[in-house]
Amino acid sequence: MKRILSGMRPTGKLHIGHYVGALENWVNLQKDYENFHLIADYHVLTTGLDTSNVYNDSIEMLIDWMAVGIDPLRSPMFRQSKIKAHTELHLIFSMLISVDRLQRNPTLKDQIRDLNIENLSYGHLGYPVLQAADILLYKGNFVPVGDDQLPHVEISREIARRFNNQYGAVFPEPEPLLTKFSRLAGLDGNAKMSKSLGNTILLSDDFDTIKQKIRKAVTDPQKVRKGDPGRPEVCVIYSYHQKFNPGETEEIAANCRSGALGCVDCKLRCASKINEYLAPVLDKRKELESKPEYILDCLKYGEEKASQVAENTMNEVRNNMEIG
Ligand code: TRP
Repeated sequence: MKRILSGMRPTGKLHIGHYVGALENWVNLQKDYENFHLIADYHVLTTGLDTSNVYNDSIEMLIDWMAVGIDPLRSPMFRQSKIKAHTELHLIFSMLISVDRLQRNPTLKDQIRDLNIENLSYGHLGYPVLQAADILLYKGNFVPVGDDQLPHVEISREIARRFNNQYGAVFPEPEPLLTKFSRLAGLDGNAKMSKSLGNTILLSDDFDTIKQKIRKAVTDPQKVRKGDPGRPEVCVIYSYHQKFNPGETEEIAANCRSGALGCVDCKLRCASKINEYLAPVLDKRKELESKPEYILDCLKYGEEKASQVAENTMNEVRNNMEIG
């Protein structure tokens, strides 16, 4: 069975954008692949040195993964920082790629611009080298990613080739599995739902919270009162209907355009649909939260599994290199 390595930086509780953009896909992939799910906690350090939330954020993310249906026995979930082989392989890989190549990484350039980074750290420049170690330690054949991560998978492929040529074939060249990324817009109308923009609906939000958040969401500015004709194509709420309420979109679009449907009603219907969609996740989350020891056992199990695979790979690496 081909193997998938997927990963996310721990940012705490996940939102419905993560579900639509990645997690739904991860859950389905469990049928046809062997999956390893990495909590990229060392990677957090590249953009902030404060580690005080990293552990809690990792556990919250783990709970969300399990709540949406990642099976802890079939698909090991583990923290990068617990498997020391990541750092060893990262060091070796860091010799196999040039600074110049890493500086040409478009995702890094975007980050430098968006986060206003003035003094890029050595570790941040090497972000994709650590990611290559994440993927190749588990001999991942496929990596589910959004398009911003494609350059990192490409760098992983280059490093795998370079290693194999120099020291003998150990690594497969991983391929991206591009997520049919229906990127979900934020409640404020921003093209992206994201924690740092504060425009999210969390997987753990209850109906009241969802209703409140949706009530404040931005709609078509030209539709001020019920009766005014609206433009569904510019409305965030309509884009949510398309995802969470596909059966009623035509009727909603028509009645929005004619003015028969007001934003208040439209939003309530949207909130109910999102709530329906999330209800099983919320139930599962509640159940999991009542069993904190079980959650930690699952993590421990995942870390043991991951560690075995990683050690096997490192033994091959050390043998081939006759070092370490
Ligand atoms: N770089 C990924 C992101 O920012 C997170 C990540 C780290 C990752 N290691 C990985 C993703 C390995 C896939 C595979 O989203």
